[in-house]
Amino acid sequence: MATWKQLESAAQQAMGNSHCPYSEFPVGAAVETESGDIFAGANVENRSFPLTVCAERSAIQAAVSAGHRVIRRAVVITDTTPPAPPCGACRQVLAEFADDVEIRLINLSGERAEYSLRELLPLRFKLPGHS
Ligand code: THU
Repeated sequence: MATWKQLESAAQQAMGNSHCPYSEFPVGAAVETESGDIFAGANVENRSFPLTVCAERSAIQAAVSAGHRVIRRAVVITDTTPPAPPCGACRQVLAEFADDVEIRLINLSGERAEYSLRELLPLRFKLPGHS
């Protein structure tokens, strides 16, 4: 199992790789899989704005692409007060890979807030026939 500190460091390092020339709003994320592995991601913007990928989804894509299917914890880092929560789309994508996820939001001043995915997305979309 990874430590929160390791997850936070991975998220902060990824934030440094953010490609955000349009919003100038860097975001970093790190997820911990069931196996205890950590995958990180940054937001990657595009001049065709809808093609932008959020940091959380970058991290999730990395984990799933490496063969993981269960996410236990996530850290999201922004330079905002209070630390910014994941957008609705990212909440739904997290929900694809866990019943619940412990989510820690942090900022560069060291502020922290913790939520569960169930709190942030109490009524997720489910496809009939698929749990
Ligand atoms: N962004 C994220 O990376 N995660 C979120 O949950 C919301 C927004 C990014 C997308 C875009 O690059 C920038 O923040 C401003 O919306």
